[in-house]
Amino acid sequence: MTHVYIEDIADHVEKEVTLKGWLYNKTDKGKLRFLMIRDGTGMIQAVVFQKNVSPEVFQATDTLTQESSLVVTGKIKQEERAVGGFEMDVSHLEAMQVAETYPITPKEHGTSFLMDNRHLWLRSSRQHSIMRVRSEIIKACRDFLDDRGFILVDTPIITPAACEGTTTLFKIDYFDETAYLTQSGQLYNEAACMSVGKTYCFGPTFRAEKSKTRRHLMEFWMIEPEVAFADLDDIMNLAEEYLCTIVERVLTERREELKALERDFTLLEAVRAPFPRISYHDAFDILEKEGTQTPRGSDFGGTDETIVSAHFDRPVIVHRYPKTIKAFYMQPDSKDPELALCMDILAPEGYGEIIGGSQRIHDYDLLVERIQEHNLPMEAFQWYLDLRKYGSVPHSGFGMGVERVVAWICGIDHVRETIAFPRMLSRMYP
Ligand code: 4AD
Ligand code: MG
Repeated sequence: MTHVYIEDIADHVEKEVTLKGWLYNKTDKGKLRFLMIRDGTGMIQAVVFQKNVSPEVFQATDTLTQESSLVVTGKIKQEERAVGGFEMDVSHLEAMQVAETYPITPKEHGTSFLMDNRHLWLRSSRQHSIMRVRSEIIKACRDFLDDRGFILVDTPIITPAACEGTTTLFKIDYFDETAYLTQSGQLYNEAACMSVGKTYCFGPTFRAEKSKTRRHLMEFWMIEPEVAFADLDDIMNLAEEYLCTIVERVLTERREELKALERDFTLLEAVRAPFPRISYHDAFDILEKEGTQTPRGSDFGGTDETIVSAHFDRPVIVHRYPKTIKAFYMQPDSKDPELALCMDILAPEGYGEIIGGSQRIHDYDLLVERIQEHNLPMEAFQWYLDLRKYGSVPHSGFGMGVERVVAWICGIDHVRETIAFPRMLSRMYP
């Protein structure tokens, strides 16, 4: 019998097919057994009627427990009242493995219990929807850049130096030398863009963040485009178009999943260009009116980001932060060298910073000065400085944290559910 996936079931009405999946739920009614089966692509009700199957098969259905794996054969019927609009009339059924008592039941469970059972929790319909949205977002990001001629160049995970400050480095022993897990592929992107013009990297990045917040992971995935000859305005435009495209894609391709997550579509539909663009000091004017405790000149806290974003119905671009609170490689603003030509994009609804980017210093002497000011090891940056010796050009790029974008688009209040196996301050199991 042909094995089919539930998502393709509409093509098999009135035909006998085989499904392979897991038992989600079962109810008994006299000589009938209703099996709710999921196979990763969808859910269908399979009806076992005593007189249509052998006594052994009927008996076998009674031993099936939640999450038992099974193979069922039967005829597909259109059934308006059933989940998904179809039903199977079972003629044969085989249990592959009868599951032990499944720890996750329809009753409420605490977060810590669910996180301990993350490997099983992934099977629940909510997690299933989140994983599908995440996969679509990543595909949309890559399609967007691929379609615009960006070349994917993979950057290393093991690196000799810091990109985003030395306080969040994960140190490793590299044959008696000290190395670090990468915080960002940016520095290598800069080398690649001087070769291919437009590049991006996409991979896991690591930050030993000692803060326990709903927006921070120790290991997160970042997609980072970098463009030669581009300035700050160019990448603000790129980032704006990029976010609009991703949101639109999820709204069209993953509507069912967003519905399952009870996401308010209207809030996502508002995500259209142009995004408001305000300077760091404009943002501080807003914060001071709202009575922030954060002193002007320092970085925003999570609450500050939420307050600023609450003034807008779509992502807001905040640009030109003081250089003292930003990374060493950022180009100073020629109108006010105390400001860096950088931008952060804050998601609406309090999801915080989803994109960080900047124009990079292209002058050799200025870069040397900054590396010294930041007490970074000059030897480790020789290759990076070389890029300023051989045909240096202004260039810019940004990084988007996948998990924060998934949290925002799905409307989930904590990043721990946006990746299958989150690495957090107090957890690296399972
Ligand atoms: O603002 P960040 O630190 O920028 C960079 O790493 C640049 N080198 C990127 C570039 O220009 N190529 O990080 C970029 C984004 C943030 O806006 C946020 O979305 C995400 O990465 N991010 C995190 N996501 C989850 N957990 C963390 N601990 C994160 N730290 C940053
Ligand atoms: Mg940032």
